[in-house]
Amino acid sequence: MKNKLAQYFTPTSIVDFMIQLTDVDAHSRILEPACGQGIFLDRLKENGYHNILAYEIDDTLATTYEEVRHESFVSAKISESFDLIIGNPPYIRWKHLDDALKSELKTNLLWKTHCNSLCDYLHIFILRAIELLKEEGQLLFICPEYWINTTHSYKLRNYMVRHGYFEAIYQFKETPIFEGANVSCMIFKYIKSRREKPPIRLSRFEAKRVPMLNELQNLTPDFECAPLKEDQTWLLEPASTQGVLEAFEQQCQKHTNETYHTIGEFCDIGNGMVSGLDKAFQWRETTEDLDKQEQYYLLKVVKAKDLQAFQYKKITPYIFLNEIASEITLKVAFKHFFAHLQAHRPRLEMRYQYNRSIPYWHWTFPRNLKLFSQQQPRILVPCKERISNKDYFRFALAEPDILPTQDVTALLKKSHVRESIEYILAFLNHPKVFYWLRHKGIVKGNIVEFSEKPLSSIPFRAINWEDEEEVALHDVITRACQTKEIDIPFVMEQLDMLLQHEPVLG
Ligand SMILES: C[S@@+](CC[C@H](N)C(=O)[O-])C[C@H]1O[C@@H](n2cnc3c(N)ncnc32)[C@H](O)[C@@H]1O
Repeated sequence: MKNKLAQYFTPTSIVDFMIQLTDVDAHSRILEPACGQGIFLDRLKENGYHNILAYEIDDTLATTYEEVRHESFVSAKISESFDLIIGNPPYIRWKHLDDALKSELKTNLLWKTHCNSLCDYLHIFILRAIELLKEEGQLLFICPEYWINTTHSYKLRNYMVRHGYFEAIYQFKETPIFEGANVSCMIFKYIKSRREKPPIRLSRFEAKRVPMLNELQNLTPDFECAPLKEDQTWLLEPASTQGVLEAFEQQCQKHTNETYHTIGEFCDIGNGMVSGLDKAFQWRETTEDLDKQEQYYLLKVVKAKDLQAFQYKKITPYIFLNEIASEITLKVAFKHFFAHLQAHRPRLEMRYQYNRSIPYWHWTFPRNLKLFSQQQPRILVPCKERISNKDYFRFALAEPDILPTQDVTALLKKSHVRESIEYILAFLNHPKVFYWLRHKGIVKGNIVEFSEKPLSSIPFRAINWEDEEEVALHDVITRACQTKEIDIPFVMEQLDMLLQHEPVLG
């Protein structure tokens, strides 16, 4: 039951802090939409609030509370509105949702209008809560923060912008607030209002344990952030940061209109192939004893751990026999591989099968193989990068025969592109790209994600081929990146000069 219904209960210090953030009076009508064991109800009453209504779908929880209705908040008939809605709603990804909860959502108008099957259960709690607030009513939730920048949550964000504003946001990054739930959480105070939106007070707290009440009370806002807008990325950053990001975007501006170029116009991007059990396919022994045919079926893979900025450290050979249909051929023509795979066979047969029946010697999901088979160099990047201990990313150039597995994403130049792959490589490793991705990429806690979408949206400084100076800088950067010992400070200096060059408009 616990995980099916996301039963993670809120620590008292957090509940008390959230209650202190509200300024509604003691008689106000209050709703707790998913009350769990009733911690918010206890603490609200302790603080003098008595006019409370609560919901909890699990009828084994909060059984002694008069104000609790044991039914689903999603479709409960509620014909009143509230001054304050407070709590910690459930967050469950659609694919992990119980069938009954899914069916309930499929007939829910708010869900149908503002969500899709990539959205989280949390969305409906925010949407319905806002719908049920009085004008100037307050919504105080603690929840994960990833929906602030995921593409599929944009309708929820737009709904929030249209109906009110955030007064304050507290971000907890990797602070482990809920035991067993490894997510970055935030507390937000949102006001349903038609008034002009004030700036948002933003505070950040990070520790390796649950914060104590006095630590939270002593938090002063780190900065104020401009009110959020419809159809725009939500950037929870001070104005100075926004200025730097805008300046960079301007440096990448298209010659013909207001928007900027993006990497996605210049590169095809694909996440690496999935073997389903890397250990079984890695060939760690010498290749000398292998037959010619076997050597031919070894792929050259660069793992995420072996990537560094500009260059990779080493190659790991992988067995790749997806072309081989029968086990007899495997046994006869690939005897070393056959023997090697037998040791892993039970686990290979237990791999996720993607609704097919996959032979144990095949990789389960060789996605993007066609793209990776193109005979051209590629840029590899780990598909996730922790940035708490580093201030650079690891985009590395690899030869045409190097392949990425699932921990790596690859970028290959589109055929019409004149900029060299070395220039694109240098650009991606520039500190401004790091800065831009840290703030506008897909960032969960301290982890930046490099799947296709976030990579393709990175601004890109295209070369104006009419401008001799730009072309010369492009060529110098290209040549500098073709040497074995790349002089990175020199390359960055050249790129800085190029970035400062006004893009020619017209
Ligand atoms: C993350 S827990 C938080 C509980 C409580 N608010 C707290 O802070 O300790 C979410 C709760 O929502 C309940 N829940 C899940 N789906 C629900 C629904 N459709 N309606 C009402 N409660 C629901 C779960 O059983 C769980 O107790």
